[in-house]
Amino acid sequence: GSWGNGNRWDNRSDNRWKNDDYGKKEDWSVPLQKNEKLEYELFGSCNTGINFDKYEDIPVEATGEDLPKCCESFNECQLGEILRNNLVLCNYTKPTPVQKWAIPIVMNNRDLMACAQTGSGKTAAFLVPILNALYEQGPIDMPSRTYGRRKQYPLALVLAPTRELVSQIYDESRKFAYRSHIRPCVVYGGTDIGAQLRDLDRGCHLLVATPGRLVDMMERGRIGLDCCKFLVLDEADRMLDMGFEPQIRRIVQKDSMPPAGCRETLMFSATFPREIQLLAKDFLHNYIFLAVGRVGSTSENITQKVVWVEECEKRSYLLDLINFASPDSLTLVFVETKKGADSLEEYLVVEGYPATSIHGDRSQREREEALRAFRNGEKPILVATAVAARGLDIPNVRHVINFDLPSDIEEYVHRIGRTGRVGNLGLATSFFNEKNKNVVRDLLELLDEAKQEIPAWLESIAYDSRPQGGIRRGATTLGRK
Ligand SMILES: Nc1ncnc2c1ncn2[C@@H]1O[C@H](COP(=O)(O)OP(=O)(O)OP(=O)(O)O)[C@@H](O)[C@H]1O
Ligand SMILES: [Mg+2]
Repeated sequence: GSWGNGNRWDNRSDNRWKNDDYGKKEDWSVPLQKNEKLEYELFGSCNTGINFDKYEDIPVEATGEDLPKCCESFNECQLGEILRNNLVLCNYTKPTPVQKWAIPIVMNNRDLMACAQTGSGKTAAFLVPILNALYEQGPIDMPSRTYGRRKQYPLALVLAPTRELVSQIYDESRKFAYRSHIRPCVVYGGTDIGAQLRDLDRGCHLLVATPGRLVDMMERGRIGLDCCKFLVLDEADRMLDMGFEPQIRRIVQKDSMPPAGCRETLMFSATFPREIQLLAKDFLHNYIFLAVGRVGSTSENITQKVVWVEECEKRSYLLDLINFASPDSLTLVFVETKKGADSLEEYLVVEGYPATSIHGDRSQREREEALRAFRNGEKPILVATAVAARGLDIPNVRHVINFDLPSDIEEYVHRIGRTGRVGNLGLATSFFNEKNKNVVRDLLELLDEAKQEIPAWLESIAYDSRPQGGIRRGATTLGRK
């Protein structure tokens, strides 16, 4: 007040490190003032579905030394006031199974490898306890800054494979950071670095990043990981698939990040193939392994159908499915190649359907625009490649169509997981023909486990293609007894 300009020192969006300047320790666990406009912007409608309670029956496997007790309700989790308030604003009335376990595990300073079904709330399972810890901890002393260098020292880092996914995690983090001193930031490639740097300059406590762009920022001396006590790898297996391992190792092991054991490291995915265990060995310290449902299984809220469709009949079959869809629902169509996505989109548009597409050769602006138009229902049909398979949370996706089936089952699990999220029901239809025989056994096992109807022809193909005396490859078998 006495500075003339009313709120000058309370306007923390200008400089959230004001503590540096004054040296007195603020209490970050006390909520800041409400901001009606921001509140409205952040907390839209909730889309928890009628089948939310079904999660109660999912078997949970948690292993590791001194396993912290799980909490049955958010109240039991002993979160601070800021998060309690924000969870109410989000309309989260009770934790999902992965949240019940992950929140106490993180609050007990333990490392975690967590595997839980698509759409089961993994994002909040790491954001909530991390932010809570940051609020409890309050401001910390930053490394002294060299003049002329504006370097940010995030307290927590979340890495994820795609630009769309980091944006989504960032949006989620802004909800949980509402009325707090924590300022989340997001960085990803394919877009002007200048704007991202300017945003970082305003303070960055929680950073959500794709690995490539983060390495760039670190090399420019704009980000230091010296104070980063929380590291999350979301969709870790996908980041390895995409060849990000060198960048991840560069970030985690070859810079100033505290070593395993001095930081908390968390890995999340719906699938965990073998390769990830090697990374886990290097990055995690005395960790807890948590599997909600069988590793790599699908949600029973998704009805899965497999139909035999010859290559040349796919387009007309697709139109039949689209014509059948209700007008206010969204349909996501997966194809294998970028070219395939372009040509299918063009076909649909020429036929008069409101379709758009997303793939890796599109500019970031085009990708964002396509996703925006799909989300808001302007273009209720999205043709996509694998870039859209992981993590994206779009309400009202009622139907996922595998126009081209993927060749590995993990990819299938993530793709169909774009529907049937948080207790909502969804449908997944896959076109199958000669070309897809390589995935038949894994597919059959998955359908069987999710108690889906299995066409007799599929079973007989699987029988014919059974390995001679060999066992199935171990990609999704981690954690199974
Ligand atoms: N406790 C809760 N109650 C109600 N809704 C929730 C709860 N937790 C998360 N959600 C909502 O569930 C949706 C899916 O969450 P999220 O994207 O974190 O799933 P996920 O497990 O990461 O899925 P994927 O494997 O596809 O990445 C989001 O819209 C989120 O807001
Ligand atoms: Mg996710």
